[in-house]
Amino acid sequence: MTDEPKQEMVVTPWEVKGDIDYDKLIEQFGVSRMTPEIEDKIAEHAGYKHLQLRRGVYLSHRDTEWWIKEYEKGNKVGLYTGRGPSGNVHLGHLVPWFFCAYLQKAFGADMYFQMTDDEKFLHRADLSLDEAVSYAYENALDVIACGMAPGKTHIFSDTEDIEHLYKIALRVAKKVTFSTAKAVFGLTDSDNIGKIWYPAMQAMTCFLESDREGRNIPCLIPAAIDQDPYWRVTRDIAQKLGYYKPAQIHAKFLPGLAEGGKMSASQPETAIFTTDPPKKAGKKVMRAFTGGRPTVEEQRDLGGRPEICNVYAYFYFLFEDDDKALVERETSCKNGEILCGHCKKELAKRVESFLTDFQEKREAAREVLDEYLIKPVE
Ligand code: TYM
Repeated sequence: MTDEPKQEMVVTPWEVKGDIDYDKLIEQFGVSRMTPEIEDKIAEHAGYKHLQLRRGVYLSHRDTEWWIKEYEKGNKVGLYTGRGPSGNVHLGHLVPWFFCAYLQKAFGADMYFQMTDDEKFLHRADLSLDEAVSYAYENALDVIACGMAPGKTHIFSDTEDIEHLYKIALRVAKKVTFSTAKAVFGLTDSDNIGKIWYPAMQAMTCFLESDREGRNIPCLIPAAIDQDPYWRVTRDIAQKLGYYKPAQIHAKFLPGLAEGGKMSASQPETAIFTTDPPKKAGKKVMRAFTGGRPTVEEQRDLGGRPEICNVYAYFYFLFEDDDKALVERETSCKNGEILCGHCKKELAKRVESFLTDFQEKREAAREVLDEYLIKPVE
């Protein structure tokens, strides 16, 4: 155990830092804990249990069982997720996106994928609107490389595709008061007024598929739990607008390379980007925070601490599909049989080969990007 005081936890859509206490988040956000029944149901429809379900990466949800039941009744169900394109995509973003591709296949669902270039422009002093828009297109390549289905994935940028979005966003905005926006998002008098409007854009997509198809389609949002404040506001107004409340399934955070907090594009030195040259990413892994002891002797005597180790977390979330091998690594680490250098080297190799493969898919995506962009309703 470390004797250092715990860093205070902050989890908002724009900032995640400190020691994350997921139990506390579940309570604070008023969400339901994930259940084995839901995990099993998803696996049943998919034909296998995704690594993230086997490992409890999805810690909580709202109404996911209802969304699955609607599907089982033979009703069409939809998926929605998004990205704030302020820079390159990192490994943390891929966690929910790989899962989205899995869900999309399992439930034959259309996926509405929102690129919030407006949000990032409004929230980031150092980002021009043109930069945000251009990242939206670059980041779309990552979304495609995660294996989303062509024809069923509708990627859109808030600024470039506003004609598809504005009317629904207005209907949403009319139902949300300024005092709600202030309370939920912590806005103050010195914030620009764009930040007050923006939540209507993120909420609106929950209803986009229903609106385009002219019938109510249950919507499930896979994302990390930082996005939850948006859904609280959306759920409050959904029925007033004649739509179903959107369901959510919340992921835990992939940590950054440093101790504490999540992998975050706003701390680029602690993130592995999908565009990093593989060798550079391998070097980053070698600098990652681990649960190792200060000396080899202590490590051999006391064992390492996988529970706080970021290198172990990367195996756990993304880079070790074999459950048995993962348990063996954990046990050998705790018994002091392996040292951090060993795990780092193995992880570096896996990250490098993952990135080589992912970057090929990402480049190939340029050729087919158009098939994935939102089209007018026929
Ligand atoms: P953004 O760009 O901050 O994050 C994109 C997605 O990645 C998740 N995420 C992570 N998941 C696991 N580990 C991490 N370290 C990590 N960091 C980020 C986020 O939860 C998110 O799912 N406002 C949004 C864009 C958006 C959106 C949405 C996201 C619009 N509509 C609907 C999710 C669902 C944003 O800036 O995401």
